[in-house]
Amino acid sequence: MYQLTNLRHIYGTRVVLDLPTLEVREGEILAIVGPSGAGKSTLLRLLNFLEVPTSGIIRYRGQVVNAATPLAVRRQVTTVFQRPALMRASVRANVAYGLGLRGLPADGRLDEMLREVGLADLARQSSHTLSGGEMQRVALARALVIQPHVLLLDEPTANLDPYNVALIEELVRAYNARHGTTVVVVTHNIFQARRLAHRVGLLLNGSLVELADADRFFHAPSDPRAAAFVRGEMVY
Ligand SMILES: Nc1ncnc2c1ncn2[C@@H]1O[C@H](COP(=O)(O)OP(=O)(O)O)[C@@H](O)[C@H]1O
Ligand SMILES: [Mg+2]
Repeated sequence: MYQLTNLRHIYGTRVVLDLPTLEVREGEILAIVGPSGAGKSTLLRLLNFLEVPTSGIIRYRGQVVNAATPLAVRRQVTTVFQRPALMRASVRANVAYGLGLRGLPADGRLDEMLREVGLADLARQSSHTLSGGEMQRVALARALVIQPHVLLLDEPTANLDPYNVALIEELVRAYNARHGTTVVVVTHNIFQARRLAHRVGLLLNGSLVELADADRFFHAPSDPRAAAFVRGEMVY
């Protein structure tokens, strides 16, 4: 889905990402774990075409990403953030928003999505009266209803209760399995990475020190820092 080559991203004088090569495979769930400040959110912004790298190349489906990348391509990718920015409007209006933006009708697909995320009964409720878990489910529904090709999740369940964490993980897993949507999830939660991901990468100071199939990452990591992380000795 993506091929990053010799990518470096610099803020001021600081190299925040240095990725000689990184592939995101079509249809996979890739988890990126790592401490605060490692560059995880920056990586997601680059994958969502919100920034261009200081140097290096991002290919999306084989095409080099640049200023000429069409809006129709950019809109295939969407991000759900830790704290969803919802409009002060009903749940339904929030979920319908992305459809309207793309000129798609708010048809049966919208109601089906609200049912899937367990919000059908709250469809008319104003989004600012929801609990944190409900808000995050609105944000996820809003992202999924447009049937993105790539779903980027930036710590989507940080600060949520276990019930909502499980709900959101199950929704992501089911959606990925059903639609083959490529998912990149940034998470602090090693257990979440283990539950969700096909492959896991550990990002430290802008470098991927380990990137492996989930089984290998958790049972036989090759980098000592990844091993320490898996053993719980690297705490953050
Ligand atoms: N817009 C920006 N301008 C300057 N520095 C930034 C900007 N965004 C992020 N940074 C810095 O880049 C580094 C990586 O940030 P970020 O990608 O948000 O890390 P993470 O998501 O892993 O916590 C941090 O040191 C952060 O302060
Ligand atoms: Mg972040």
